[in-house]
Amino acid sequence: MQAWLCETLEGVGALRWRELPTPEPAAGELRVAIRAASLNFPDLLIVEGKYQAKPALPFVPGAEFAGIVDAVGAGVTTFAVGQPVAVVGTHGGFASHACVDASRVIPLPAGFALEDAAAFAFTYGTSQHALIDRGALRAGETVLVLGAAGGVGSAAVQIAKAAGARVIAAASSAAKCRLCREIGADATIDYSQEDLRQALKTLTDGRGPDIVYDPVGGAFAEPALRSIAWRGRYLVVGFAAGSIPALPWNLALLKGAAIVGVFWGEFVRREPQASAAAIAELAHWYTQGRIKPVIDRRYPLQELPEAFERMASRQALGKLLVVQGN
Ligand SMILES: NC(=O)c1ccc[n+]([C@@H]2O[C@H](COP(=O)([O-])OP(=O)(O)OC[C@H]3O[C@@H](n4cnc5c(N)ncnc54)[C@H](OP(=O)(O)O)[C@@H]3O)[C@@H](O)[C@H]2O)c1
Repeated sequence: MQAWLCETLEGVGALRWRELPTPEPAAGELRVAIRAASLNFPDLLIVEGKYQAKPALPFVPGAEFAGIVDAVGAGVTTFAVGQPVAVVGTHGGFASHACVDASRVIPLPAGFALEDAAAFAFTYGTSQHALIDRGALRAGETVLVLGAAGGVGSAAVQIAKAAGARVIAAASSAAKCRLCREIGADATIDYSQEDLRQALKTLTDGRGPDIVYDPVGGAFAEPALRSIAWRGRYLVVGFAAGSIPALPWNLALLKGAAIVGVFWGEFVRREPQASAAAIAELAHWYTQGRIKPVIDRRYPLQELPEAFERMASRQALGKLLVVQGN
């Protein structure tokens, strides 16, 4: 098989393209012939040793992928060769094949496009868990999404709309704001040009958003929390800007607001039945056309470094894929 290998934790530049023996599935595993894998921000962190999960070296990065089962190990009865599946884990996807424990594999319903499946569970699972489960979003509330044209951000825009919210999408360029309106945002704020706090005042008649969905951290966290509505919920999703905000706690007191942590991977590990039910509901929304991954660009697997460069330099409009077999 062909694979990108992380042999040292020196980042994307140190990844190596390797020809390796195609692995055989062990008992309880199946082998996936990978058709597409998507990039998620944690893929950047894991190859620098900066992510919670730290696989033993060398490893193949790529947390999310989809393809066709092409071999099953002993004892696997729930999957068959030829079946389309998706996988979300910590690594293994930036390769032509991967062997994975059958318990981690998601069977795909008919009509679920493989490329969409490769860019689905991580972002939509995270945003559903954040907004609906942790944030208790109700129809009619206003949601502010920061980094709204990114992977989890664009999923959050779509899920909040599907749940009946009014969505204000905030992002760093006019092109990103345009994309957010195309996927359903009611209003946008280009925070490279506009003052976030003032724009939120204007757009909410001074009331503020009921929910702030924040996968970015950095400099916009404090103005966003200052703007939040009475009984608001501030969802701490990630720190793509690189710095972890330290915020004055009196802001939470003054608004009767909650700072709510979101850790989807741990939710999947600790509450597998609840997370499987959430993914099944999201898949149903997908088949109804209520949500659909925004694919920015597709790269041949061998061009993974270019895809990483687009993500790290903040150019991606939605999700990036590496694909094969086309
Ligand atoms: N809590 C969880 O369970 C969970 C699950 C999945 C992901 N995450 C986290 O969520 C964050 C976003 O992940 P993602 O896969 O959606 O990433 P992504 O597609 O790259 O989106 C990240 C967005 O952050 C903004 N950003 C601001 N400063 C940036 C910088 N210096 N470098 C890169 N982006 C920057 C960009 O939007 P603008 O240019 O518009 O500002 C970008 O669109 C990451 O921190 C990730 O670790 C958390």
